[in-house]
Amino acid sequence: MKKINLKVNDIKVPIIIGREIFKTINIAEYVSKNDVVIVTNSTIAKLYLMQTRRLFREFNVSTLVLPDGEKHKNIQTIQKIYDFLIKSKLDRSVTIVALGGGVIGDMVAFAADTFMRGVDLIHIPTTLLAQVDSSIGGKCGINHPLGKNLIGSFKHPRAVIMDTAILQTLPKREFMAGMAEVIKYGLIKNKSFFNFIDKNYLKIIKQDYDSLIKTIFTCASIKSQVVQEDELEGGVRAILNFGHTFGHAIEASKNYKGILHGEAISIGMNIASAISADQGYLTHDEYCNIEDMLLNMSMPTMIPKKITVASIAKHLGHDKKKIAGKNRFILLDKIGSAFISDKLNNKYLKDISKNFIS
Ligand SMILES: NC(=O)c1ccc[n+]([C@@H]2O[C@H](COP(=O)([O-])OP(=O)(O)OC[C@H]3O[C@@H](n4cnc5c(N)ncnc54)[C@H](O)[C@@H]3O)[C@@H](O)[C@H]2O)c1
Ligand SMILES: [Zn+2]
Repeated sequence: MKKINLKVNDIKVPIIIGREIFKTINIAEYVSKNDVVIVTNSTIAKLYLMQTRRLFREFNVSTLVLPDGEKHKNIQTIQKIYDFLIKSKLDRSVTIVALGGGVIGDMVAFAADTFMRGVDLIHIPTTLLAQVDSSIGGKCGINHPLGKNLIGSFKHPRAVIMDTAILQTLPKREFMAGMAEVIKYGLIKNKSFFNFIDKNYLKIIKQDYDSLIKTIFTCASIKSQVVQEDELEGGVRAILNFGHTFGHAIEASKNYKGILHGEAISIGMNIASAISADQGYLTHDEYCNIEDMLLNMSMPTMIPKKITVASIAKHLGHDKKKIAGKNRFILLDKIGSAFISDKLNNKYLKDISKNFIS
């Protein structure tokens, strides 16, 4: 069992990583109240709700099962969570457990932050993406019909419990989407981790015990370190958005259908790496190394058919990360080191995207 202690302001968040840790962890260390509500979705409930209930057996446990899917990450589902909590006559002394991927994690954390002005939360992330990314750092929220993740807040949990055994049932495509974020951490912060992935990706994908634990621990450590330095994304936290400017534009161009977030990020990282080389930061060899790694892992590198440059350009213009009308684009100055540039205008980004249309 490995542990990371994330500290933000006065809040301490233990992140526990291990295999089959449900059997050994003393969950009472992280729950001070008697009432526990486990919130999950219908897919995960079939697989892991029983064992999660067992984990909390010494508490007064109730469960809420929501429909599965990003399309339910909205205010109506938040309303369902509030309805359940209020009808169950629960008050501030409840601990809410988010058992699921990023969709459940984001919604449940937002509900926990706002119900009775904030109640305790525990994350049990069940996707690779949620373990390496969304369960760490406090960002949470829901989509609005006019855009993704437009409503939200920051809510840190009492603990994050990551059990790698849970990933065995994750569909391969979802696992590979999480791998895009894994590669991102190597690219922006840790060259030797990038090299480790390059050498060991087959083992990681097969979920070899040591390789997977090392991968999740390294990613969670990097994310924790970046969040500790800049919780509210005033500065360095923005490097976590490497590959996301084009990634988000691709997702939006496809109306968030038929492409997973990690798949769009894989393409976005390829384009951002090419731009880093075009701007004279990355060497040609470094860029080829990155592209080869993505291709070897059968990750997408080109903008999908039917998406036009005009559509990409339109959505680049809507990027939420803009400050005072200027783009903040994340570049690599070498593998393992990223920085924020405000020098790239939309015309340049639009022109370069032409090279990546399938
Ligand atoms: N808060 C943050 O910092 C942050 C960061 C990145 C992404 N996100 C958000 O995360 C969401 C995406 O999360 P995701 O990729 O985890 O998707 P997801 O939560 O939709 O999960 C993907 C699919 O896998 C299923 N699933 C989950 N765990 C499983 C398991 N162990 N076995 C079998 N099936 C399982 C789910 O039911 C779902 O169908 C997006 O809404 C995104 O905005 C948030
Ligand atoms: Zn992402």
